[in-house]
Amino acid sequence: MSELKAFIETHVPNIENVMYQLVEQLNAPAKLKESMLYSLKAGGKRIRPLFVTAVCDYFGHNKAASYTIGACVEMIHTYSLIHDDLPCMDDDDMRRGKPTNHVVFGEDLATLAGDALNTFSFGVIARMPIAAETKVELINLLSVAAGAEGMVGGQVLDMEGEKRQLNIHELEQVHVNKTGALLRFSIESGAVLAGATEEERVALVDYAHHIGLAFQIQDDILDIEGTTEQLGKTAGKDIASDKSTYPALLTLDGAKEKLNEHYELALKALENLTGDSELLRDFANYIVRRSN
Ligand code: IPE
Ligand code: IPE
Ligand code: MG
Ligand code: MG
Ligand code: MG
Repeated sequence: MSELKAFIETHVPNIENVMYQLVEQLNAPAKLKESMLYSLKAGGKRIRPLFVTAVCDYFGHNKAASYTIGACVEMIHTYSLIHDDLPCMDDDDMRRGKPTNHVVFGEDLATLAGDALNTFSFGVIARMPIAAETKVELINLLSVAAGAEGMVGGQVLDMEGEKRQLNIHELEQVHVNKTGALLRFSIESGAVLAGATEEERVALVDYAHHIGLAFQIQDDILDIEGTTEQLGKTAGKDIASDKSTYPALLTLDGAKEKLNEHYELALKALENLTGDSELLRDFANYIVRRSN
């Protein structure tokens, strides 16, 4: 685990610097930048950008481009959290241990800060000093992952799951899309940047699929077992809103079994890679054991 800890400690400050500088340089209203930076600087595990860099690291590819792509995926993720917390969505007043964006800046500015983070990310990729075909591929992958066929689509089915208990196939679709799609982009984009072979990419996407499911199952378990203080967001939200989750459908023990299944399958996917994938195995372990 110590290799992972050192990796996180080395790369998170670099990722954050790149991300903050990008937003600080924007020629935009001060209040808007303040609201965007408030949520970005509130913290978070930075798991998505860390995955971009970890995959580049696996291939021995230079890290600079991975920080920029990581910053973009973290901005998209942060926008999704700002909107997820709005009164018309999950109506949460705490995120990353701080009052939510709309509590501080109002619903109007919070909505717009989310919009700005979302749209900005695509422009940042377009302006990267890398091959044009690579940029087009990354922009396309990110737009699919974050949009109607990915995260946003998953959130819509997730809302549906507050009105009726979804079955296991529907629930898997929610997790694959609302959370898995962006995690998959994080992992796949590293493979694209590093010029992975088709076989390597298939193995990593398979790993990403199980990581995405495991990540959201653990999020659902923590919503029940964690405290608000530990999570930095309101615990017990899912039961309060009658949400369809793995624990609701399978019981807590059943959800933990599923979590473990996906953990094992993520490790198995890595067996199809010939290089040293210890760090990626450690990441899988971190995701299923994390406490926030
Ligand atoms: C929370 O994501 C929302 C989900 C998609 C489950 P994270 O658990 O990655 O949140 P931060 O970025 O660490 O705050
Ligand atoms: C969030 O799912 C998924 C998003 C795409 C924002 P949740 O609603 O479960 O996330 P938390 O628990 O509020 O972080
Ligand atoms: Mg939600
Ligand atoms: Mg929520
Ligand atoms: Mg949740």
